Amino acid sequence: MITSLHDEIYAAGDLGDLDSHIERIISSINKSISAKDPIFLMLGDNFYPNGLITKTKDEQIEKFRHYFKNLHMPIYGLLGNHDYVGNPKEQIGMKINDVNFNMESNYYKIEKDHIDVFMIDGVILRPGYNAEGKYIYFHNKLKKIWGKDPIVLRSELLYWLENNLEKSNKKWKLICCHYPLLSDGIYKHWNELYKTLMPLLHKYKVNFYFCGHDHNLQYIKLNDLHQFIAGSSSHNHKIKIKKVSSFFANTPGYICLKATKSTASVTIYDENGKTLFVKFLM
Ligand SMILES: [Fe+2]
Ligand SMILES: [Zn+2]
Repeated sequence: MITSLHDEIYAAGDLGDLDSHIERIISSINKSISAKDPIFLMLGDNFYPNGLITKTKDEQIEKFRHYFKNLHMPIYGLLGNHDYVGNPKEQIGMKINDVNFNMESNYYKIEKDHIDVFMIDGVILRPGYNAEGKYIYFHNKLKKIWGKDPIVLRSELLYWLENNLEKSNKKWKLICCHYPLLSDGIYKHWNELYKTLMPLLHKYKVNFYFCGHDHNLQYIKLNDLHQFIAGSSSHNHKIKIKKVSSFFANTPGYICLKATKSTASVTIYDENGKTLFVKFLM
């Protein structure tokens, strides 16, 4: 039954292989729509292996269109590390015939009736130095793309996020970022991102954190924050280290958040729409 009483938000990341998994996911999502205006969040690594590249852009976009034209809702995207290998600016403001694709900037807010969604750029929050202070690849790339020192970019993003979290008066808050804060997959503990974001998420009582990057499905409770990883929809990482997750599956799938004024639920589905895990909140 279609009703306007709840917000309905679907999400999946790491879709960049653009293959038949997407076809199955889209068909399952279309069958399960129960709200008037659902949306789909694309959690980064939208084009494998090298993001969108000016030279091959038309071909890549046509492939994207082939699958996503069948999804009956607006798509909101964010950038992952693979998107930064190419030119991430190609995806910002990207218009595709027959696809309602939206990425107004590399970080922005979506307002639904009962929930504010903050789409953020995880690559900027890990600006190119690892925990030991060692230089890594994206430092130079960030500088080149945005014309600013990565440390400045990072401060600007955090200022924007804090400012908007402070202003948010919705019952529920969701942050979406390509990278997990904590994971039982091959990427384990993202110390730098965890330390950067957790105090802010705690201070402003953020309820949900959706991410990808690890190519599996996970649910991890971090105090009052409910983190869901949905990055399994192109190819899977087979490694599983179950230490922090209450739910872990190595199968393609997606998640769906339903929120009303007083309750919320997040369901993890496999690509055929079979329920694998549900978390209810009041
Ligand atoms: Fe990925
Ligand atoms: Zn990734």
